[in-house]
Amino acid sequence: MGALLQVENMNVYYGAIHAVKGISFHVDEGEIVTLIGANGAGKTTTLQTVSGLLHSKTGSIHFMGEPIGGVPAAKLVSRGMAQVPEGRRVFLQMTVEENLEMGAYTQPKSTIAPGLERVYGQFPRLKERRKQTAGTLSGGEQQMLAMGRALMSNPKLLMLDEPSMGLAPILVEQIFEIIQQLHQAGTTILLVEQNARMALSVANRGYVLETGRITLSGPGAQLLEDEGVKKAYLGG
Ligand SMILES: Nc1ncnc2c1ncn2[C@@H]1O[C@H](COP(=O)(O)OP(=O)(O)OP(=O)(O)O)[C@@H](O)[C@H]1O
Ligand SMILES: [Mg+2]
Repeated sequence: MGALLQVENMNVYYGAIHAVKGISFHVDEGEIVTLIGANGAGKTTTLQTVSGLLHSKTGSIHFMGEPIGGVPAAKLVSRGMAQVPEGRRVFLQMTVEENLEMGAYTQPKSTIAPGLERVYGQFPRLKERRKQTAGTLSGGEQQMLAMGRALMSNPKLLMLDEPSMGLAPILVEQIFEIIQQLHQAGTTILLVEQNARMALSVANRGYVLETGRITLSGPGAQLLEDEGVKKAYLGG
């Protein structure tokens, strides 16, 4: 089979601002692929465009072999794409379980119960806190909830936008462990991160995004050893 996700020549603008400048990349089934880059590099813009919230002026996006440019975001969720947004954005007044149920909104009602069981299996912490409002959860638990919500639709491709943002180092480790567990359980993952060291150490492959352009790509382990990457993203 070809790539699960294939992006060719993506160009995205906010008015006069050219945020993503002709990038191409792909994610094969079963991979973890990471896009790393500094503030403003265009990582979120790229994810939002893949997930149908923004549009590329040029090129094409294929998901499972089909062109998806112009397909609305909700349709893409029901086709097997799920995104965990930057900053998590869980519904703070709602309980853990209500938040998870929201993640199945594009799916038939009959998928909710098995979805909850699957997600609670993946995140026992969420099961313990199912009746608690999301606003009372820690940052790491809110990140787990945002990931669990995305997993309720049982996606083929899970896209994560800076899951480590704002978390203490111990929680960052936990989140990355969970990412690896999800990957081992068969989920294909596109991971956007500023934490290049963690992201490259779990990724099969990575792309370096600099002011809207991909400047480097390769196996995660290789990028970790790259002198330019070390200087720019790994603190020397
Ligand atoms: N709604 C918007 N309107 C105008 N410009 C925007 C908008 N959103 C993003 N940009 C600009 O597009 C560029 C890419 O932003 P983007 O949010 O994709 O970067 P990022 O790599 O996700 O950064 P961060 O790591 O800070 O989240 C930046 O120059 C940013 O200022
Ligand atoms: Mg961002």
